[in-house]
Amino acid sequence: MTNIVLSGCNGKMGKVVTACINKRDDCKIVAGIDLNTEMLNGYPVFSNFSDIDKNFDVIIDFSHPSALPNVLGFSVSNNIPIVIATTGLSDADIANVKAASKSTPVFFTFNMSLGVNLLVQLAQKAAAVLGDEFDIEIVEKHHNQKIDAPSGTAIMLANSINEVFNNKLNYEYDRHSKSAKRPKNEIGMHSIRGGTIVGEHEVIFAGHDEVITISHSAASKEVFAVGAVNAATYIVGCKPGMYDMKNLVESR
Ligand SMILES: NC(=O)c1ccc[n+]([C@@H]2O[C@H](COP(=O)([O-])OP(=O)(O)OC[C@H]3O[C@@H](n4cnc5c(N)ncnc54)[C@H](O)[C@@H]3O)[C@@H](O)[C@H]2O)c1
Repeated sequence: MTNIVLSGCNGKMGKVVTACINKRDDCKIVAGIDLNTEMLNGYPVFSNFSDIDKNFDVIIDFSHPSALPNVLGFSVSNNIPIVIATTGLSDADIANVKAASKSTPVFFTFNMSLGVNLLVQLAQKAAAVLGDEFDIEIVEKHHNQKIDAPSGTAIMLANSINEVFNNKLNYEYDRHSKSAKRPKNEIGMHSIRGGTIVGEHEVIFAGHDEVITISHSAASKEVFAVGAVNAATYIVGCKPGMYDMKNLVESR
């Protein structure tokens, strides 16, 4: 049995992750961490890790970048593996995540769905085959409550494609402020926010007289919860280091 502490437990993802864990018999939530410490999901909720009075094996974090110092600090000091699913992290935050992974196992991905991780691989393959003759644009769509833009997943897609081009491409987030033709060495990034869209990502490769589009659409938040819980049960017992969906898929 894997005992889990869920950070951000009273948020939208916290509720979905709780429901996902409640359906399984190989793991359970022993406590939650949230700014709002109401007990909404059947387990005690604290604002500080030091108040948790039970032993646990792993932390899942779906909260907010402001929670990161506490989550990482506790994880490193107590050698507890951690799954970080929170997005909107700054470069400095990501550097801190990597530093923490030197002493504790850290599972980190901007998108916990298996399908999106396949999309990343397909986009890399398309970029390698199509080369620099095709213009690349990424469009992401999310609900109107999302705080960060572009989405962490759009950045992950852009970075993965950029690796194929030896990181030569710039990202253009704001074409409307310029009056110039589209240069070759860029990836256009576009964010749409509205209603209850769970998460859609589209990579467009536009060439001369032909367009290839590959896309992923999440119909519910459950896909992210299932991935995060699988990541949590996987990472317990791993050596310190950075892990992602590729490691999880290869472990199966
Ligand atoms: N990696 C993925 O696959 C994936 C998928 C979906 C959402 N997310 C990310 O997960 C995060 C949470 O999403 P959500 O939709 O549940 O958001 P939400 O706003 O509904 O919930 C966030 C919860 O975190 C709590 N919180 C905020 N700051 C905190 C702090 N400093 N300490 C402790 N708790 C704090 C809030 O009180 C709230 O209950 C976001 O960053 C979102 O982008 C990631």
